[in-house]
Amino acid sequence: MTLSATQADGADTARGRYDGYFRPGYAHRDIYTAQDVFDQEMLHLFGTTWVYVGHESEVPALNDFVTRTIGRRPVILSRGKNNGLHVLINRCTHRGAVVCRQAQGNAARFVCGYHAWTFGTDGKCLGVPLSHAYGPDFDMEAQNLHRAARVESYRGFVFASLNGEVMPLVDHLAHARRYLDEWIDRGDCLPVVVRAGSMRFETHANWKVIYDNAGDGYHPPFSHISMLRVFARRYGDVDMQYYSGNFDEAPLISRDLGNGHTLLDQRPSMHAQSAWERQHVMPGREKMWEALSEKYGEGPAREMLDASTGSGLNLNIFPNLLIIGNQIQLLEPLAVNRTVVHWFSTTLDGAPDEVNALRMRMQEDFPSFGEVDDTAQFEACQTGMECVPEMPWIDIRRHMNTDAGHRGEDGIWTEPISSDQHMRCYLDAWRRIMNAGAARACDDA
Ligand code: FES
Ligand SMILES: [Fe+2]
Repeated sequence: MTLSATQADGADTARGRYDGYFRPGYAHRDIYTAQDVFDQEMLHLFGTTWVYVGHESEVPALNDFVTRTIGRRPVILSRGKNNGLHVLINRCTHRGAVVCRQAQGNAARFVCGYHAWTFGTDGKCLGVPLSHAYGPDFDMEAQNLHRAARVESYRGFVFASLNGEVMPLVDHLAHARRYLDEWIDRGDCLPVVVRAGSMRFETHANWKVIYDNAGDGYHPPFSHISMLRVFARRYGDVDMQYYSGNFDEAPLISRDLGNGHTLLDQRPSMHAQSAWERQHVMPGREKMWEALSEKYGEGPAREMLDASTGSGLNLNIFPNLLIIGNQIQLLEPLAVNRTVVHWFSTTLDGAPDEVNALRMRMQEDFPSFGEVDDTAQFEACQTGMECVPEMPWIDIRRHMNTDAGHRGEDGIWTEPISSDQHMRCYLDAWRRIMNAGAARACDDA
C-alpha cells in the first residue's frame, strides 16, 4: 500500500501535496516506487517542463527524424523545410496508434500502419483513405498530428515542452548553461556531432535512481572498485585514481546549478597538467600520438588529444539529460520501476580522425565497463526500496550540516564532491514542480 503524503510526514493540507514525501535530509521511498506518483510525474513534471528530445546533429538533413519520448508520450523530432525542427506527438489522430515506429530515418511522410492515414514531417495530415465516408464537413487540417507547444534549441541541444507557458529555455537552464557552453566549446570550439543511434539498455529502476547516480560523487571508489583496481594495476596513476582516501579534500566539487540541474566537476584532478597524459591506455593510443605529434608538433597534438578524453564533467540537466564525459545520456521512463538509458557517443566535426576515433572508443570505456557497476546498484536500490515498507526513508544528508559548502564568486553554491546536495537540489525542484501541478489539478477540479 502506498503511503499518502500526509501519512508520510504528518503534512497538513495547507502545505503542498508532495511536501510530506520529504523531511530534512530524507526522501520517502514512494517517490521511487509508487505508481500514482509516477503517473503524476508524467503529467505534472514531464508534461510541463522542458524535456531534452535530441541533438540537431541527429537530424541534419530535410526529412531526417528520430523518435523519442516526453515522459511516456512518444514523439518524433524531425527536420522540416527551411531547416525547421518539429516535435510531433507520435500518436495517430485517427484511432491513437503510434504512427512512426522506427528509431530513426529519413522520410518525406509518415504513414500510420493501421489505416494508412498519412502525415508530413511537419505533422500536416496529407491523406486519409476513403475520406468521403467522413462526410462533406471533414476537415483534413483538424487531423494534423499534435505538436509540442514549445521547441527550442540551445546550441544544438533540442528541448521541447508541452506547456505553452513554460519559461524560456535559457532561463530554465540557469547556471547549467555555463557548463553546457564549456562542454560544447571544449574541443577547440569545433561543432559537436551526436552519432546516430545509441547504446540502449533497460534497467529495472525508477528513472530518478539513474538521475541520482549521475550526480553522486560518493559512490565511485566503492561501486567501481574493480574497474579502478584494473586501471591502477595496468596503467598506474591515471584518471579517477583521485577517488581514494578522503577524496573530499581533492579539488573535486559538486555544484547546484538551479532548477534541479547539478554538476560534478572532476576537471581539476582529472585534467591536472594534461587530460591526455592522465587518460588511461586505449587501443591504438601510441599510434595516434605518434601520427598527430609528427603532423602538428607535440604541443598542438596534446591539445587536440585533450579533447578525446572524458570531459571531467557530470552535468545533470533536469529531468532527463545527463552529460557524462564525452557522452550524452538520455533517460526514458517506461514505468515506475523501469527505465531505458540511452548512451550517445559524440565526435567533433573537423577534428583529426584520431581524436574522433578515440572519442568513439570511449564508448567501450566507462559506458561498457563502469555502467554495469552502476546498473547493479540501480536495481539493488529499487528492490530494497520496493520490498521493505517498514523502512520508507532514503538518506540524503551528506554535507548537510558540515559547513563545507560555500557560495562562489559566480553565485553558485558549491560543496565537496561526496555531498548529497545534488539530490537535495533536484528533489527540491521536483517537489516545487509537482506541488504546482497538484495545485493546478485541484483548481481545475
Ligand atoms: S490508427 Fe492510424 S490510421 Fe487508423
Ligand atoms: Fe558510477
